[in-house]
Amino acid sequence: MLPVISIGTLKTSGTTTLALTLAGVAAAADIPVVLIDAARDRDIVAWSQKGDRPSKITVESADDETTMERLVRAARRRGDLAIIDAGTSPEAIRSAAKLADRSLIPVRFSPLSAYAAIATDRMLAADLGKGRRGRDWAFTASAVTTIPSRIARVIETVVQQSGTPRLEIGLVLRAAYEAPFLHGGTIFNLADEIAPGLDRARAEAATLAYEIGILGRANTQDEILPTRIAA
Ligand SMILES: Nc1ncnc2c1ncn2[C@@H]1O[C@H](COP(=O)(O)OP(=O)(O)O)[C@@H](O)[C@H]1O
Ligand SMILES: [Mg+2]
Repeated sequence: MLPVISIGTLKTSGTTTLALTLAGVAAAADIPVVLIDAARDRDIVAWSQKGDRPSKITVESADDETTMERLVRAARRRGDLAIIDAGTSPEAIRSAAKLADRSLIPVRFSPLSAYAAIATDRMLAADLGKGRRGRDWAFTASAVTTIPSRIARVIETVVQQSGTPRLEIGLVLRAAYEAPFLHGGTIFNLADEIAPGLDRARAEAATLAYEIGILGRANTQDEILPTRIAA
């Protein structure tokens, strides 16, 4: 079974970039994905209007919990992957998390992003016991620099003090992740000359998708995907 993933944190920290990047991995592996835009600014909807959206990605928008629930149910029925961009609003983040199997809290290693991530974590913890049985959530590093600043290192330890796990891998700060918002499409169908570092971004995104469980046992493409992505 493909999971329902919700992504959101109380302060802008790369939620939409993460949502679109993961949807791009799924589409590249031929997995149908419903990308649900429940964020106030509707950046996913704006992205889809730019064109070059892979046919495996369907974009929907949701203003309220009822709509979100209907879209998630339909995705589960079809066996599609669903990714909800819950944005920064507490209501949307909580509703999406309750519908999801797994929630991701993107965190940049900056103080304000980390405080927001911790507040989001507490908010989700307050809803423990509600929503889907066995659902979980994790911090996901977002737009990290390869050489961390001293502040980033302090922030990292702050985030680690929460009992909530942080995924081993996150998304490094790369212009390649921004290219789809400029040109449409995903990092997997953009031409190499359009953005430098697309190959590294693809490999990183695929590794993250494995870790999250988007590319897993349920997916028969398991064996061939790494080769395809590396190609
Ligand atoms: N890994 C990344 N590498 C480069 N730029 C990023 C990365 N993640 C986010 N950004 C940029 O940071 C800004 C905010 O990201 P966005 O995904 O829109 O965050 P949110 O949805 O939380 O508001 C955007 O300009 C986006 O392109
Ligand atoms: Mg956003």
